[in-house]
Amino acid sequence: MNQWPDTRILDLLGIELPIIQGPMAGATNSSMVIATCNAGGLGSMPAAMLSTDQLREELKTIRQHTRRPINVNFFCHQPPAPDEQRAQDWKNLLQPYYQELGADFDAPTPVSNRAPFDNAACEVVEAFRPEVVSFHFGLPEKSLLDRVKATGAKVLSSATTVAEAVWLEQHGCDAIIAMGYEAGGHRGMFLSDDLSSQVGTFALVPQVVDAVKVPVIAAGGIADARGVAAAFMLGASAVQVGTAYLFTPEAKVSPSHHKALRTARESETAVTNVFTGRPARGILNRVMRELGPMSAKAPAFPLAGGALMPLRAKGEADFSNLWAGQAFTLGVELTTEALTRKLAEEGLARLPGRP
Ligand SMILES: Cc1cc2nc3c(=O)[nH]c(=O)nc-3n(C[C@H](O)[C@H](O)[C@H](O)COP(=O)(O)O)c2cc1C
Repeated sequence: MNQWPDTRILDLLGIELPIIQGPMAGATNSSMVIATCNAGGLGSMPAAMLSTDQLREELKTIRQHTRRPINVNFFCHQPPAPDEQRAQDWKNLLQPYYQELGADFDAPTPVSNRAPFDNAACEVVEAFRPEVVSFHFGLPEKSLLDRVKATGAKVLSSATTVAEAVWLEQHGCDAIIAMGYEAGGHRGMFLSDDLSSQVGTFALVPQVVDAVKVPVIAAGGIADARGVAAAFMLGASAVQVGTAYLFTPEAKVSPSHHKALRTARESETAVTNVFTGRPARGILNRVMRELGPMSAKAPAFPLAGGALMPLRAKGEADFSNLWAGQAFTLGVELTTEALTRKLAEEGLARLPGRP
């Protein structure tokens, strides 16, 4: 299928369909990546919640089952300075829940595990040489980025504003993921922490397209053919779709997340920092309603999550992050392979001038 009006991303990344399966730490494993790649899209393996050994295993499996280009995705936040007082204040705020659920308040607080891109992760990239490496929260320091680029990988990162897109282009990104406010999961924002000025996909994509020379990938709220066609009409060269892939059998979602995706109402997502310390969009639940959705007390990313872990173990849906984008009710039960093909075939058919 090569009649796409804009083939810049296809040519750059060596893929057949302009559909990028969004990396979803915790929900995407090798099976989703393999299925997307074999359908002709770009499968993205998220590394943020894996040890380097686990990542190596996943990449080995992926390379065994597909010869197509793959994307490996990393977070590149600065690890926070320890702040005992803030951690204790946060835990104290959760104390009534510990009491209600009978969780042990005095046990040591577990540590939440979202690792930034570092030397060890870079060695995995050097060993497996993924064709594409994508980052969230900006880019890693120059020496690490230079090593990634030296492997020949194309580098992508998310921009949530035009200023971030321009910054990413100036710092060496080969393409920009324009991540609108509709998107599920963590906001990729890194130059500003002002949520009130975050931009929706429909406004963000064409402004980013006008501001940068590199190709633009639209993300946020795209879950069916209408969204794919609209993204191309706005000037995008591909789409990155996350939430719609949560409905595939390859998605690793908890029973409560699975249920919430199918039973929540359209307007029931919000951007919250209570689960990790950074703003992320998920389906509204009890802890988001009662402590947030944004809380000034939440410790810095990713530390906020630790004190919630014992509560999650007791009352999962109320205290778990149920990441989802605003278009989640468009999700359909299809395999990853079928979804990837459907988005491309039906998206292409909706573009002007197609039969
Ligand atoms: C459950 C979930 C986890 C996510 N985890 C990551 C991640 O690890 N890295 C990343 O760059 N983006 C992550 N995202 C963002 C997606 O890759 C994608 O950009 C976003 O989902 C697109 O918007 P949509 O959800 O409206 O399709 C996540 C999204 C979801 C829903």
